[in-house]
Amino acid sequence: MALEKERVCVTGAGGYLGSWVVKFLLSKDYFVHGTVREPSDEKNVHLSKLDKASENLKLFKADLLDYDSVLSAIVGCTGVFHVASPVPSTTVPNPEVELIEPAVKGTFNVMKACHEAKVKRVIVVSSLAAVVMNPNWPEGQVMDETCWSDKEFCKTTKKWYCLSKTEAESEALEYGKKNGLDFVIVCPSHILGPLLQSTVNASSSFLIKLLKESYESMENQPRDIVDVRDVAEAVLLAYEKPEAEGRYLCTAYTMGIRDLVDKMKSLYPNYNYPKSFTKGGQFMTSSEKLQRLGWSYRPLEETLIDSVESYRKAGILN
Ligand SMILES: NC(=O)c1ccc[n+]([C@@H]2O[C@H](COP(=O)([O-])OP(=O)(O)OC[C@H]3O[C@@H](n4cnc5c(N)ncnc54)[C@H](OP(=O)(O)O)[C@@H]3O)[C@@H](O)[C@H]2O)c1
Repeated sequence: MALEKERVCVTGAGGYLGSWVVKFLLSKDYFVHGTVREPSDEKNVHLSKLDKASENLKLFKADLLDYDSVLSAIVGCTGVFHVASPVPSTTVPNPEVELIEPAVKGTFNVMKACHEAKVKRVIVVSSLAAVVMNPNWPEGQVMDETCWSDKEFCKTTKKWYCLSKTEAESEALEYGKKNGLDFVIVCPSHILGPLLQSTVNASSSFLIKLLKESYESMENQPRDIVDVRDVAEAVLLAYEKPEAEGRYLCTAYTMGIRDLVDKMKSLYPNYNYPKSFTKGGQFMTSSEKLQRLGWSYRPLEETLIDSVESYRKAGILN
């Protein structure tokens, strides 16, 4: 008799990171329940084309704010990868409704459903946005898993996405601890790398704009970068390694945007890069804890080249 495959659920299966997590889980012979808001939407078609999707991927229509829809997707699963959360490309008119509520109540609903369905382990995808927004952190001191973004600072500076991720992660932590759930949190930095989906997500759109927009001047802000495939590996590692616990920062390279542009120019000289830079801040982060768990990351060149080639193939750079 064939062995029953392990069932796991991925929320936000059709998104940028979610698609890679689904792809890697299918390649490792998991049976995947993927949540999408609209299964018939053209933007989710790529999922059915993934290897083994026809046998081992089942899509569930679920909105994070609709508890019953979330629970239906999670019932029967031993593991859950909570990836879904709004990630806007631009400022949103109503952050409470568009960002904070789906992130925070959505995380609560997922954690509650995991508890009800007796899920063995939950992986929550948070973000460096929940870690680094702290004006009082001493410049030059490395940030690690003990660091949290300052919610008041996020509010006063209107960094609503950072606030949504900080509050969502706090929610996961509080619910998970109170209810004895086995959960692990992964906080990726700015994710780049090839697209599986046909739409452009916010973090890829940042790189596309650097190539196309010919900005007169840009602030030389610090960027931490990690490859989407390495983040997907990290969340699988956090799920599969029994000793994984707590939070893990997941980042590979720190650089100013000016250095990133210089790197891009050396690989692809002929795009319309920003013309000049103004001074920006800096921060330093470390993924040592994740590396001790067995995580490694690919060279930056590979991420940048595979990103650009995937945009070219999709006709996005024309
Ligand atoms: N990309 C980055 O640089 C980065 C860095 C750190 C952390 N992260 C985190 O990684 C996760 C995935 O981000 P991504 O870059 O892959 O973004 P993405 O492509 O925009 O994916 C976000 C996903 O969340 C889903 N979603 C949003 N609101 C929802 C709701 N109310 N109900 C159900 N699903 C909802 C979206 O579904 P629809 O397709 O239906 O809209 C989409 O599948 C997020 O938690 C994000 O905060 C991303």
